[in-house]
Amino acid sequence: MARVELNGVRKTYPNGFQAIHGIDVNIADGEFIVLVGPSGCGKSTLLRMVAGLETVTDGEISIGERVVNQLEPADRDIAMVFQNYALYPHMTVYNNMAYGLRNRGTPKDEIEKRVRKAADILELSEDQLARKPRQLSGGQRQRVAMGRAIVREPEVFLFDEPLSNLDAKLRVQMRLEIKRLQRSLGTTSIYVTHDQVEAMTMADRLVVMNGGRAEQIGTPMEVYERPATVFVAGFIGSPAMNFLEGRAEGGKVVVNGAAGLAAPADIPDGPVLVGLRPEHLAVVDGGAAMLELAAEAVEPLGADTLVHGRLGDGQLVTIRLSGTPTFGEGDRIALAAEAANLHFFDPETGRRI
Ligand SMILES: Nc1ncnc2c1ncn2[C@@H]1O[C@H](COP(=O)(O)OP(=O)(O)OP(=O)(O)O)[C@@H](O)[C@H]1O
Ligand SMILES: [Mg+2]
Repeated sequence: MARVELNGVRKTYPNGFQAIHGIDVNIADGEFIVLVGPSGCGKSTLLRMVAGLETVTDGEISIGERVVNQLEPADRDIAMVFQNYALYPHMTVYNNMAYGLRNRGTPKDEIEKRVRKAADILELSEDQLARKPRQLSGGQRQRVAMGRAIVREPEVFLFDEPLSNLDAKLRVQMRLEIKRLQRSLGTTSIYVTHDQVEAMTMADRLVVMNGGRAEQIGTPMEVYERPATVFVAGFIGSPAMNFLEGRAEGGKVVVNGAAGLAAPADIPDGPVLVGLRPEHLAVVDGGAAMLELAAEAVEPLGADTLVHGRLGDGQLVTIRLSGTPTFGEGDRIALAAEAANLHFFDPETGRRI
């Protein structure tokens, strides 16, 4: 197993486009790190640099104790699993898994042992090992792609959106399988996804990326509970956090002309953005109201209900309530949130106050 360290890593593509602007991450031995962010933020670029498939423009990448910037992919002791599986269509599943080891001159009985062990872990049957990839379901193909990585017994697994070709139900199942597998093997892993639910459920720590930068690095709960920026706050959590324009005055924040909200005592006077998660707003008696919402749309989801509405000044707010509410569209409802669940951001810099 191995630590992975990224120090001041930058990437400028030959056309002059700067895709990565200086990222520092220390990944512990056996840790499962998820790079998450919107399309184009540089996730694949960063992963491919760790893999050795892209050159590093500046900075240093280490795997174990070695700086690997100049090493070929084959010499880095990594195994990568891609979105499209990249299986050889004319080879059997067994041979797909054995291929990389044969290329390296691994003895035949050792190959056999490792392929059988991987098939066992992944619950691929003897019959399935003899088939061609096209004779398997999407989920089974995904397992073969995992198997091909496992047999290498690498120091590090790299995953680039490995589940995005699967339907929603299979994705949930496979994400549990990958996580379980990674725990039992204890292999340091870097996993790329743009799906924040996948990121939250799988990661030991997240690297939330935006525009080639790491906006925040932390455990899923740290990132959820204390988002460092407006971007992170809006990206992690579903439905997304509400952002309300307000003003800080003497340590209190006023939104929509309503009573002051408790804010950090050292908050400077001036405009602030107040972040409130839909699940943290509760319907209360009028007297305890922090905000008053005119409900415009009620969406029952079964266990939960989403209510979308507007404050008096027209700002949109979404709340998530458990069960089915007694009010409906057109009603006015009083809302409150606990002080601990209020987030304050500087509207200029987007940073948490
Ligand atoms: N070979 C290249 N030359 C120039 N620019 C590139 C090249 N490859 C990628 N880019 C650009 O670098 C940025 C980051 O791309 P990257 O593929 O890393 O994004 P991503 O976060 O993986 O996105 P997605 O979720 O869509 O896969 C994008 O703006 C992309 O257009
Ligand atoms: Mg990508």
